Amino acid sequence: MITLGVLASGSGTNLQAIIDAAEKGEISAKVGVVISDKENAYALERAKKHNIPGYFVDFKSFPSKKEYEKKILEILKEHNVELVILAGYMKIVGETLLSAYPNRIMNIHPALLPSFPGLEAWKQAIEYGVKISGVTVHFVDEGMDTGPIILQAAVPVYEEDTPETLLSRIHQEEYKIYKKAIQLFAEGRLKIEGRRVRILGGGKI
Ligand code: GRF
Repeated sequence: MITLGVLASGSGTNLQAIIDAAEKGEISAKVGVVISDKENAYALERAKKHNIPGYFVDFKSFPSKKEYEKKILEILKEHNVELVILAGYMKIVGETLLSAYPNRIMNIHPALLPSFPGLEAWKQAIEYGVKISGVTVHFVDEGMDTGPIILQAAVPVYEEDTPETLLSRIHQEEYKIYKKAIQLFAEGRLKIEGRRVRILGGGKI
């Protein structure tokens, strides 16, 4: 059983899916702490409802990103976090967290990377006119949405799709794929070789 620390800036529906999977015993992991850079993030409410410690860490009250991340790190360590999960965390992770958790920070992105990194990827996909988009879970490195890819799932883009309808189908895939990636990590089945993440044990998830 591994302990997760979830960083979230928003509504936290991915956080909820992970909490539910942990409570149902679908993953060998528990959410030990939730940290948000937004005081009113609904993710913190979700944590509270499940008796998970939640913290608001205000970026503005620190002199630098380094100091801000040192505070986050202190909380993660205090709760014995082994894997950090970004779930709608709207800041670029800096050196302090990356070096404390090398290859132990995961992110989920609502597109098939390396297409459409950055904000509102589902809108970018519609505007570009792709017929297939999707979801990517990856390890976090110093870039934006650039780290080694763990799992991806395709989501079709239909003629009648609006950004909202596509996003809602993307979300459904996110909830499935994030818990799979966490479970693979918990089982020690993710081996990073350069940019590639090898799934040990025959790729069966
Ligand atoms: C998700 O779409 C995820 O891909 C992106 O941020 C969004 C978070 O949504 N990184 P939620 O807060 O989990 O509902």
